[in-house]
Amino acid sequence: MKVLIATEKPFAAVAVEGIRKEIENAGFELALLEKYTEKAQLLDAVKDANALIIRSDKVDAEVLDAAKELKIVVRAGAGYDNVDLEAATAHGVCVMNTPGQNSNAVAELVFGLLVFGVRNFFNGKAGTELKGKKLGILAFGNVGRNVARVAAGFGMDIYAYDAFCPKDVIEAAGVHAVDSQDALFETCDVVSLHIPATPETKKSINKALVGKMKKGGIVVNTARKEVVNEEELLELMAERQDIKYLTDIMPDAHEQFVAQFGDRYFSTPKKMGAQTAEANINAGIAAAKQIVAYFLEGCERFRVNK
Ligand code: 3PG
Repeated sequence: MKVLIATEKPFAAVAVEGIRKEIENAGFELALLEKYTEKAQLLDAVKDANALIIRSDKVDAEVLDAAKELKIVVRAGAGYDNVDLEAATAHGVCVMNTPGQNSNAVAELVFGLLVFGVRNFFNGKAGTELKGKKLGILAFGNVGRNVARVAAGFGMDIYAYDAFCPKDVIEAAGVHAVDSQDALFETCDVVSLHIPATPETKKSINKALVGKMKKGGIVVNTARKEVVNEEELLELMAERQDIKYLTDIMPDAHEQFVAQFGDRYFSTPKKMGAQTAEANINAGIAAAKQIVAYFLEGCERFRVNK
């Protein structure tokens, strides 16, 4: 049984070693394709792989066509919008994610971005504090819950909206549950995005919504660039000189954001929310264990396609 790790953005070496142990202890073989620059390299590497561990690497119909022996793909992480689920099902390939395994890392980065943002990107000028500010968490999943936990330490007043999570679950975490996205943006000084990229959420963070924020509103995005309507955010930030946008996923219009709003806009050069040794170990080893359990016990827990 051959398991391929294909990661354009590699795991920490210690995580790869942990994955190797899991795979080899099960009597399987591990292959590694890291930092690849061409899709052709991936197409070649998947040819004889029975299982595939990926991160944000794209697995589309072409990759699945090339992977003649493939039975399972595990996205070591939460969002699986990079995998063509329909094509995987059509190819008889099981797709899983590893929910929750990297969520603390992403949540911690939210506060890294926020402190950097409210202290004017460390330019020496007086900024503001997070204590006492209203934080809105958009979607109360694994990352959102960790954000709430850390925000409590900062002394923030915490709000959340989640279309799929019952209000009492949100309230039980000491968080005010609001009735709508609109209410979250109207109420909060800072909104942190934790929604997946789906047909419903794509471009949903638009001018009308962000425009509801009070003076000095900050949007922090550690989710997906696709959920933001970039054209409309550019328009809004030109009209509202007080809005800040902090993101871990570089927008397509990055150059324009920098040129127009350099003092109110920041993007990490490469998505790094989940880029910690701990998150890599947690997600990578979970992926390896899920693959072993799939082959040895037929376990399909965390399967995300039909
Ligand atoms: C996720 O969906 O798990 C995060 O966005 C992390 O993605 P990454 O593995 O590409 O860093």
